[in-house]
Amino acid sequence: MDQIVIRGGQRLKGRIPISGAKNAALTLLPCALLTDEPLTLRNLPRLADVDGFGHLLNQLGCSTTIEGSRPEDFGRVMTARATTLTSTVAPYDIVRKMRASILVLGPLLARAGEATVSLPGGCAIGNRPIDLHLKALEAFGAEIELASGYVKAVAPGGRLAGGKFTFPVVSVGATENAAMAAVLAKGTCVLENAAREPEIVDLCNCLVAMGAHIEGIGTETLTIEGVDRLHGATYRVMADRIEAGSYACAAVITEGDVELVGAKASEMEATLAALRAAGATVEDTKGGIRVAMADRAQPVTLSTAPYPGFATDMQAQFMAMATLGTGASLFTETIFENRYMHVPELARMGCDIQVKGRTAVVRGVDKLIGAPVMATDLRASMSLIIAGLAAQGTTEVNRVYHLDRGYERLEEKLQAVGADIERISAG
Ligand code: EPZ
Repeated sequence: MDQIVIRGGQRLKGRIPISGAKNAALTLLPCALLTDEPLTLRNLPRLADVDGFGHLLNQLGCSTTIEGSRPEDFGRVMTARATTLTSTVAPYDIVRKMRASILVLGPLLARAGEATVSLPGGCAIGNRPIDLHLKALEAFGAEIELASGYVKAVAPGGRLAGGKFTFPVVSVGATENAAMAAVLAKGTCVLENAAREPEIVDLCNCLVAMGAHIEGIGTETLTIEGVDRLHGATYRVMADRIEAGSYACAAVITEGDVELVGAKASEMEATLAALRAAGATVEDTKGGIRVAMADRAQPVTLSTAPYPGFATDMQAQFMAMATLGTGASLFTETIFENRYMHVPELARMGCDIQVKGRTAVVRGVDKLIGAPVMATDLRASMSLIIAGLAAQGTTEVNRVYHLDRGYERLEEKLQAVGADIERISAG
């Protein structure tokens, strides 16, 4: 397994290109199943999960063709076309490796009137149930059966009727699955307390470009009037606000000065407000966002929340940044039940972090010492990279396959702004 080795202490200076958003790409790709015409996605990031999703689409009869990239994009252009579906089954061996595969459930149900998808199971950060996905689809008329670890969903008469569902808790994936199921329903579907993340806006904008009728985009109430068919489209994947926020934390902890090229401030206001509260200079530039820091971070108190609150996907990275700050910072993780897996690994580098239930207190220390550490999940592994960039000595991050799921060309991007970082391939 590959390892990333960092010799800490370099201030990051320069421009970091921000790739297309993983969490937008993973909900835009299944949209190709909703039409027999080609869907072309631009600015698609080169990530393990994106490749995995392309493989899943192929299994369902959807062709995927990579067409290079455009100069104004950092990612690739992919055209996906499901002229006819050859299967409506997402098998366990694919779904267990990539939970986002569950996002074919809604589109298959809408296009083919049926879908059989393996239950995704849990992961390192939580048991990740999908009950809300299923309840929303049932509210639109789907008949759902659970058997032998699979969800079998059927639309009576081959088409969802329409209906209304109010989410008891905000769920990004359930909102995405329900919206993709609703666009081809016979009637109108209403989702209340829907997720409002920018990735949901990206999904809705792509569906509208394909001919869907959606009102309330960006709000907690989505009203979707079903249409008989959707057509193809060309759509550019939004910039990855979590990747941008992660590199911002790296800039702050190294007391550097970077421009996050392609990042959009309007999509990451809570992250930028937290960076300013920590004492960073944050300003819009023509091409993105500049983040600079001349001193140690000030203490912050942060609680994760659905958008527009502080993103749970930024918690581990921000915590790493706070470890070298002054005073005591307080983090509360309200979304996932086990999202502090990075804490024992950060402690190996000399961080002072006390976890009690959903809350963690981070007391700033004067220095971090590089050490061999283990990545456990995607964002935890980025927190170890961030700490390693500022630690004295060498940090070896193992199990970097976690990182490759969400950070495109990470060492290349960090080398370009002065980091002493390399990937050691284990053959
Ligand atoms: C998406 O996961 C993201 N993944 C996650 O990013 C992100 O952390 C999460 O949204 C929250 O923003 C993708 O977009 C591929 P949820 P998702 O449904 O959709 C509970 C990363 O690091 N819930 O919004 O799975 C759930 O247990 C990844 O990029 C139910 O109870 O998250 C959690 O407590 C990690 N029943 C809360 O809702 C359900 O049916 C939020 O989960 C669904 C969710």
